[in-house]
Amino acid sequence: MKYGHFDDANREYVITNPQTPYPWINYLGNEDFFSLTSNTGGGYTFYKDAKFRRLTRYRYNNVPIDDGGKYFYIKDGDTTWSPGWKPMKTPLDSYECRHGMSYTKFNSSKNGVEAQILQFIPLGFWGELQKVSLKNTSSETKKLKLFSFVEWCLWNAEDDMTNFQRNFSTGEVEIQDSTIYHKTEFKERRNHYAFYNVNAPIDGYDTDRESFLGLYNGFDNPDVVNDGAPKNTVAHGWSPIASHYIEVELQPGESRDFIFMLGYVEVAPEDKWESKAVINKKPAKEMMAKFDTVEKIDAAYGELRAYWDRLLGKINIDSGDDRLDRMVNIWNQYQCMVTFNMSRSASFFESGIGRGMGFRDSNQDLIGFVHQIPERARERIFDIASTQFEDGSCYHQYQPLTKKGNSAIGGDFNDDPLWLILSTTEYIKETGDFSLLDEMVPFDNDASRAKPHFDHLKASFYHVVNNLGPHGLPLIGRADWNDCLNLNCFSEDPNESFQTTGNKKGSTAESLMIAGLFVVYGKEYVKLCKRIGKDVEAQEAEKHVDAMIEAVKKDGWDGDWYLRAYDYYGKKIGSNENEEGKIFIESQGWCTMAGIGQEEGMVEKSLNAVKEHLDCEYGIVLNSPAFTKYYIEYGEISTYPAGYKENGGIFCHNNPWIMIGETVLGRGDQAYEYYTKIAPSFLEDISELHRVEPYVYCQMIAGKEASKPGEAKNSWLSGTASWNFFAITQYILGVKTDYDGLVIDPCIPSKWDGFKMTREYRGATYNIEVQNPEHISKGVKRILVNGSEIDSKIVPILEAGKEHSVQVIMG
Ligand code: BGC
Ligand code: NOJ
Repeated sequence: MKYGHFDDANREYVITNPQTPYPWINYLGNEDFFSLTSNTGGGYTFYKDAKFRRLTRYRYNNVPIDDGGKYFYIKDGDTTWSPGWKPMKTPLDSYECRHGMSYTKFNSSKNGVEAQILQFIPLGFWGELQKVSLKNTSSETKKLKLFSFVEWCLWNAEDDMTNFQRNFSTGEVEIQDSTIYHKTEFKERRNHYAFYNVNAPIDGYDTDRESFLGLYNGFDNPDVVNDGAPKNTVAHGWSPIASHYIEVELQPGESRDFIFMLGYVEVAPEDKWESKAVINKKPAKEMMAKFDTVEKIDAAYGELRAYWDRLLGKINIDSGDDRLDRMVNIWNQYQCMVTFNMSRSASFFESGIGRGMGFRDSNQDLIGFVHQIPERARERIFDIASTQFEDGSCYHQYQPLTKKGNSAIGGDFNDDPLWLILSTTEYIKETGDFSLLDEMVPFDNDASRAKPHFDHLKASFYHVVNNLGPHGLPLIGRADWNDCLNLNCFSEDPNESFQTTGNKKGSTAESLMIAGLFVVYGKEYVKLCKRIGKDVEAQEAEKHVDAMIEAVKKDGWDGDWYLRAYDYYGKKIGSNENEEGKIFIESQGWCTMAGIGQEEGMVEKSLNAVKEHLDCEYGIVLNSPAFTKYYIEYGEISTYPAGYKENGGIFCHNNPWIMIGETVLGRGDQAYEYYTKIAPSFLEDISELHRVEPYVYCQMIAGKEASKPGEAKNSWLSGTASWNFFAITQYILGVKTDYDGLVIDPCIPSKWDGFKMTREYRGATYNIEVQNPEHISKGVKRILVNGSEIDSKIVPILEAGKEHSVQVIMG
């Protein structure tokens, strides 16, 4: 069953039934100021950091779901309704929610009144706008009462859920004209406040939640709206809100527009006050003046659309299948930008207070957006590298506001350092900018310990070399990419965190996933060294890579697939000898991508084993059989019920590793089948089962051993976005960036006749047309660049500012 449809021309997903199987959300904002908005108006707004600068309250895991947001109530006679359906949930005559690129629109109607809301954050602006248009389509005069509603909480969002003895006594507001200013804690250490304004005279307001709702009422039954009259309350402590009240009389056919602005202001400490206890409203008023007319807001919306035209114009395909085209051209790229902005902080599954920017996550995210915003990718690489230590290890996360690493969610994940080689080399391949290697980048955020960025890569590489275990394989540390494979943890206490507990000496447990990862990015490191003339270092490094390949072949092969790890006792994990968890996806992915033992048939055997043991109708599960009891020596992985999350769930992040592995073998049909199994647009028809948004990837789909296979969770913020984009564009469609040009080597389904891709690269536009006359999956016979044949698969860097035709004939 479907709950809406794609509108590709507008780059929107159009939800036509508000009761989606889970809230389907969108992200507004592109730089400092953000908002999460569900298809019924739920969500919240924050400046830079959803923990420290959240403007409005949101209640996670609440009943009913998704309660609290930026709401409107329209009272028309005895009927009260909300354009986003919630909170009133009055059945609407029509409802539409259009989630687009950084904006959301609602179009609804009830009893001859049409309401349209356009909600977005203008580029470079610290405020969220809602253009509300009301139209009388009936033949009678309408006397409407419009109430707005937001709930403030501009203080520490974690504290907001715990420290009631204080918070209930701190709330303060000011009201002037049509603006409600929220100034809680402003007189002490905060140099910032928020405001909610409308560009029209108001007929009343409320700022005290209890007075507005009634102590025992929900958002769907507010006293003030029921009474049809505001109480003009001024909040003192308790829970401050902002609600405007406007009486709107509309003749038949008449319409009116209102512009609401939810803004955030920072002032210098000496400029905080206008007069005693009266906050300085000048900056807020300047913000309001920027968007006080429909023309101004429409122009800003136009700029936002043009911004996305530019970003999404860089890679565009025409494959003949709309489902694939809309993933590659629109939604997957969009999701990559959202993960760039959010990392794993704020979604409807991430609370915005738990996890900051992850070292491994942010490096991997980068491969999904570097082509769109290379300058910001460069800055991000330095932010991440600055949280590394001289020995190559690093903080597992840093907080976006301070950019400082912290140990809140642990450290010593031994895969972490290697991802810096991935992000850096992909950045250079996209941009040709080798200069970042020479930039001085701090260690441990300490400028006095800065070294050229290249040294950070070297430290990453040698961190593996310097931390090998008994089989010459990489020690796993607290865990590798699989945060839940905690091989040195041994936790017996339910009050302990698997992320931070590590009570065993980490000198035996080894990871085959890191081994494969090291061979892939070790080779990249060698290639980079050669490219920049560091030949001695290249030779030295190559020896370590070769040694790792040998170690995997010798002690990492189980006969039909690669082992996953050795545990603390030196016992095999992911072996046919094990009772449960006989085979794992991660080592199959990385060791096949690395091509380890390809001549000996290992790559093929491994991928065949994946197909046989891990593949299912909804994707490739992480391990099989899933664990059914707690293995203290394995850690969190065995805490999940079978089929969920890291225990036999379909972890969408690592499915592309297998897709890429398949392209090593040239099996394009198989690679693409795996792609379509988890690509959200291909799952639209099973939305009822899948539950989360059909336009973005989720982290996890319940696996074959789960009680409800195919049911998905944790949409939006996941490395799944960038890896699927990387796999489809660079390996399946096979247009891969390299230091000296674009390598074109598709690995596609044999039945395809070909496809077209427009790729902006180093300032030039490559109009690539791939033809597949012999219906093969892999193999390039000829490439013609602007009509002349070239004798390699690398299309060189072509003249910037121009369009070039690249004709590729497979065969
Ligand atoms: C989850 C992982 C996550 C980790 C770190 C675990 O509970 O299963 O997916 O990476 O927590 O926060
Ligand atoms: C989610 C985390 O953000 C990521 O870092 C990790 O690799 C996966 N879970 C797998 O555990």
